Amino acid sequence: MNETFLVRTFGCQMNKHDSERVTGLLCAAGMRPVTEASEADVVVFMTCCVREHADERLRGQVASLKSIKAKRPGGQTVVIGGCIGQRDGALLLKQLPHVDVVFGTHNLSHLPSLLESARIERHSVVEILDATGEFTSDLPGEREHSWHAWVPVMVGCDNFCSYCIVPYVRGRERSRVFEEVVAECERLADDGVLEVTLLGQNVNSYGRDLYGEPRFAELLNAVARTGIARVRFATSHPKDLSDSTIAAMAGHPQIARALHLPVQSGSDRILKAMNRDYTSTHYLKLVDRLYATMPDLALSTDIIVGFPGESEDDFADTLGVVNKARFDQAFTFIYSPRQGTAAADMDAQVPEDVVHDRFDRLVAAVQNCALDKNRKLVGTVQRVLFTGASKRDASVLAGRTEGNKVVHVRLPEDRDADDYAGRFADVAIEEARIWSLTGYILQDIGVKRSG
Ligand code: 5AD
Ligand code: SF4
Repeated sequence: MNETFLVRTFGCQMNKHDSERVTGLLCAAGMRPVTEASEADVVVFMTCCVREHADERLRGQVASLKSIKAKRPGGQTVVIGGCIGQRDGALLLKQLPHVDVVFGTHNLSHLPSLLESARIERHSVVEILDATGEFTSDLPGEREHSWHAWVPVMVGCDNFCSYCIVPYVRGRERSRVFEEVVAECERLADDGVLEVTLLGQNVNSYGRDLYGEPRFAELLNAVARTGIARVRFATSHPKDLSDSTIAAMAGHPQIARALHLPVQSGSDRILKAMNRDYTSTHYLKLVDRLYATMPDLALSTDIIVGFPGESEDDFADTLGVVNKARFDQAFTFIYSPRQGTAAADMDAQVPEDVVHDRFDRLVAAVQNCALDKNRKLVGTVQRVLFTGASKRDASVLAGRTEGNKVVHVRLPEDRDADDYAGRFADVAIEEARIWSLTGYILQDIGVKRSG
């Protein structure tokens, strides 16, 4: 019987992609994926340390494996990889003694041999490497959905925003060779992939380390011509998003009119303390240019509440930017001090009750904007890529618009939701909610009847 494994993923899209590569590596090593921890010979946690909450969740989940491990006749190999592995290394073994393997962000490809060493040596193995400089792109991957692929174009970050741990755990920016990215997208298109998401902590500076100047717009233009139907990318930094990138988005129907552009704060004082290198005026001018070029753009952002020293006036500036930028979606975070970052040592941490009150007000403002934007789509036709049955209701199909909004439609009678998964259809939008739209299929896609 094949050995079994389970991968649990925390955090960002880059981690989701890393998890697909871990899955690919372990399948290539002859192992079989399972969905329950109790059935897994090996459990791999792909971790995130951007905020404390993910740290705590990981520790809870790892601790809960202790009894499973003790009960299983063959035991269980517990592995921690990714950002927390990179940051804490051997310290994890002291805190969680039943962990068997720890690896970091630069040596994912070594996992099969680390598992082997742990087995042969019969004790825990820790391997953390500094950034290698090379971009390990030729690893097997096992895509979660056959029609979607994550394509990393660069990893790491040189920005050192004062609150952020990422540059310490992912290292400096390293771009992938231009032709390699394009060739991978061509292969994916041949393989039937409909949608790719180009990934990087700061995609707009793609190529700077390799070619002396950013080549992201050029890369977008090239990827748009590979035959992939829908191209997404994340994340963009407001100081680096160029007019040529905006032009590339506007110029190719294959590039989704959806942009994730984290603003973090609307206060110039706080933006400076965050080391973001732009002002709220710069941000809003950029947003104006984006909407002027693409009136139908769906804009999303990240916002941190309660950064050290944030006053009520600073927070009011953030609410002002939310209303002016008309975000379709905003990921809102309570500031979480991360040891080793500049902000962790700053005075004037904001009291918890004040932060929570601001957080609630921010969420309300964001929801207002989101509903406003969604209401504008009622009566329009949206091209939707279906993902399958809705998680809540098997008689409802779920999918995403070009703007990355969730759309629900009633599953046509005598049809199977799986027939629609990974297919496009044009949907007439009838109703808007805060985080989703509903409608009906206008142009059916001619799926085969099941059975
Ligand atoms: N506290 C809260 N939010 C943070 N983020 C990054 N670091 C922190 C932190 N220390 C948020 C930022 C970033 C997103 C991925 O996570 O908004 O854009
Ligand atoms: Fe972190 Fe700033 Fe880099 Fe984003 S740009 S990964 S927030 S340091």
